[in-house]
Amino acid sequence: MSTAPIPVITEDPYAPGHLADPYPLFEQMRQAGPVVLMKEHSLHAATRFEECRSILEDHDTFISGAGAGPKNLHYEPSWRAQGIMESDPPIHTEMRRSLAGVISPRGVRSLRPAFEEYATELVDELLERRSFDLVKDMAEVFPLRVFGDAVGIPREGRAENLPALGAANFSTFGPDTELARQHFDAGAGKNDWAMANTARENLSPGSLGAQIWEHADRGEISTDQAALLVRAMLSAGLDTTIFSLGATLMSLVGNPGEYAKVHENQKLVKFAVDEAFRFESPFQSFYRTTSTDTVLGGVELPAGTKVAVFVGSANRDRERWGPDADRYDIGRQAGGHLAFGMGIHQCVGQPLSRLEMDVLLTEFARRVRSVELTSPPEQFLHTALRGWSSIPVVVTAA
Ligand code: HEM
Repeated sequence: MSTAPIPVITEDPYAPGHLADPYPLFEQMRQAGPVVLMKEHSLHAATRFEECRSILEDHDTFISGAGAGPKNLHYEPSWRAQGIMESDPPIHTEMRRSLAGVISPRGVRSLRPAFEEYATELVDELLERRSFDLVKDMAEVFPLRVFGDAVGIPREGRAENLPALGAANFSTFGPDTELARQHFDAGAGKNDWAMANTARENLSPGSLGAQIWEHADRGEISTDQAALLVRAMLSAGLDTTIFSLGATLMSLVGNPGEYAKVHENQKLVKFAVDEAFRFESPFQSFYRTTSTDTVLGGVELPAGTKVAVFVGSANRDRERWGPDADRYDIGRQAGGHLAFGMGIHQCVGQPLSRLEMDVLLTEFARRVRSVELTSPPEQFLHTALRGWSSIPVVVTAA
């Protein structure tokens, strides 16, 4: 085994200043080595594209069952029941088959007309107002309605409970900092609302949630797993989509030339979205645990080592994306980014969030000729998620 020393990073990537603008430190971490030690947390991290990808593709060596955060769930209990993301084969395989069966590209196609109808209604309303907030009035409102309806939960209480619950959930995928604790404390109590509203009898007939329960009826998963999967959709799928919409819109507002191209030709929306996933990955980092002694990038990692996978950094790695990796460019071939992960845990909700984004942003780009900031946007600071909480704008109709 190689014994390459591990570079120690003294700056803390989870400190609020670095979370606000993580890219300079990510660059330093990538330069320092293929695996680095984050001194503040005594945790290993991979920040280069190559190592992040190879970790995610090797689920036997880099397991998820010990938790997707820095805590080792083999030794420390989790606040929530361990779901699909924090499981390994064969348990993972059963849950994944059921969920992927329900959220397949074909399965979600039937949702398009309802999504389009609401996108038209929402953009009508926003054009009427001209001045509004791209996050609060659009990126949050749209998924809360269409995604919530698709999963099949009651409408009442979604806005008050779901985003905070998601932020609490994601706070466990990073270290226990003051900021992480704030998000956790603000949202963990919303779990009771989620439990009650995802109960089988509260799910609308034919919804994605109801379809998951049919898998349990057929004995393909247990009833406990069905309940977990319905909750997993809500906790993993809402904040991420809100932040992805915000990131795409903010990238376009900040690059009016790119917005003009998308307005001219809405077929480019898909490219604008993928480039935004690369450029401002909404789920920035999560963890794996080594199941055995291994070597990564020439660095020895004993069994049981927690390794942070900074996909937000991998997606800016110049070795992979070229010298202009820090530029938002919708002409780039952004496919192959790691914003949805890679390997067996790669985001199962991808077809659904892509549909939501495609429908809303296509309608927006078609109807809005130009969009300008009216005051500075506000970031949503979080230890695992990256996004905006406010982007106030004025728009001009086409
Ligand atoms: C654009 C929005 C989204 C982003 C950026 C995103 C990102 C990710 C990432 C990076 C992973 C991999 C985590 C890992 O490897 O440990 C993941 C997994 C997952 N995502 Fe998403 N996600 C999004 C939307 C959704 C939606 C809409 C849903 C639900 C409908 C969802 C449900 C899940 C689930 C259940 C997993 C675990 C899959 C598994 O372990 O097999 N996500 N997501």
